[in-house]
Amino acid sequence: MSSNCGEDEKELVCVTGAGGFIGSWVVNELLQRGYRVRGTARDPADSKNAHLLALEGAKERLTLCRADVLDRASLRAAFAGCHGVFHVASPVSNDPELVPVAVEGTRNVINAAADEGARRVVFTSSYGAVHMDPSRSPDAVLDETCWSDYDFCKRTDNLYCCAKMMAEVTAAAEADARGLQLAVVLPCMTTGPMLQQTLNFSTNHVARYLMGTKRSIPNAVAAYVDVRDVARAHVLAYERPGARGRYLCIGTVLHRADLVDMLRDLFPQYPVTAKCEEDGKPMAKPFKFSNQRLRDLGLEFTPLRKSLYETVLCLQQKGHLPVIQPQQRAYL
Ligand SMILES: NC(=O)c1ccc[n+]([C@@H]2O[C@H](COP(=O)([O-])OP(=O)(O)OC[C@H]3O[C@@H](n4cnc5c(N)ncnc54)[C@H](OP(=O)(O)O)[C@@H]3O)[C@@H](O)[C@H]2O)c1
Repeated sequence: MSSNCGEDEKELVCVTGAGGFIGSWVVNELLQRGYRVRGTARDPADSKNAHLLALEGAKERLTLCRADVLDRASLRAAFAGCHGVFHVASPVSNDPELVPVAVEGTRNVINAAADEGARRVVFTSSYGAVHMDPSRSPDAVLDETCWSDYDFCKRTDNLYCCAKMMAEVTAAAEADARGLQLAVVLPCMTTGPMLQQTLNFSTNHVARYLMGTKRSIPNAVAAYVDVRDVARAHVLAYERPGARGRYLCIGTVLHRADLVDMLRDLFPQYPVTAKCEEDGKPMAKPFKFSNQRLRDLGLEFTPLRKSLYETVLCLQQKGHLPVIQPQQRAYL
């Protein structure tokens, strides 16, 4: 699929949840590649979306449009004339009341995209739909064939994972029924600089360690990826003609102790905890994973150290973290 539909006319695509952490970087990546972009937000005039209009190319090629994923008519209006849709918008929450927003919202997006004649949808799922399976062998390689255990997620109150699983299954079924091409990107905990001003869930995860508000770390491993890689993954999955199905978007898997070590090493002036909740017990081992499908599309992953470094600089620049010189020691 080309980013040009004519000499002068660039291809028009829509990004739902354009003002969020990942949505903003997807918009930025598309603008950089010459697309005309329509971004949706529930309130485009809200100052939390102002950063979008300052992106390079936005003046000429970005428009913002009001849409709620629960309102199919608003989605149809946003998708009119679009060749493709990037469905990024979703509550990032374990609130049971928000599960239908993720699931019915996705059903509405796929159908509105089909109604308006879009050819392809890229849907943002989550690694939460992939890795939460207590019966998976510790030696097994996590890849696109893996699914979280829905009942386990429900029992353990991981309703966000339930919502993303159901949304992904719904996206696949509806796209199939409507003859739409669907590619699904599955990012893990996403770090890196924010384009938006307000903190989102995953950036706050890093900020809490630096502020010293997280007093201990779990004996657990987690997967991380840089937000610019996630955005590129979306666009590659859109552009590559044969790209279909799931794309696991993981750059690194490491124990939380190694994550806080890295933060302390980069920024010794902040009070980052080293205390493990399960001191004395054997350390959880990082699992193996495959990001080969995205590598095959041409994606190169940013090292976590660089991503964390730039996350912290951005948190400082945007006033979420006090700027402290390395020789000073902070007691926040
Ligand atoms: N960040 C991560 O670590 C991570 C990891 C895996 C997957 N993901 C997925 O990536 C996507 C974006 O996450 P993010 O981290 O960028 O979160 P975020 O910054 O909180 O953005 C979420 C976006 O969803 C939109 N939204 C929420 N409810 C909506 C509704 N009813 N109708 C329309 N839009 C709605 C919000 O738009 P408004 O401006 O209208 O509020 C916002 O732009 C989500 O699908 C999330 O599940 C994120």
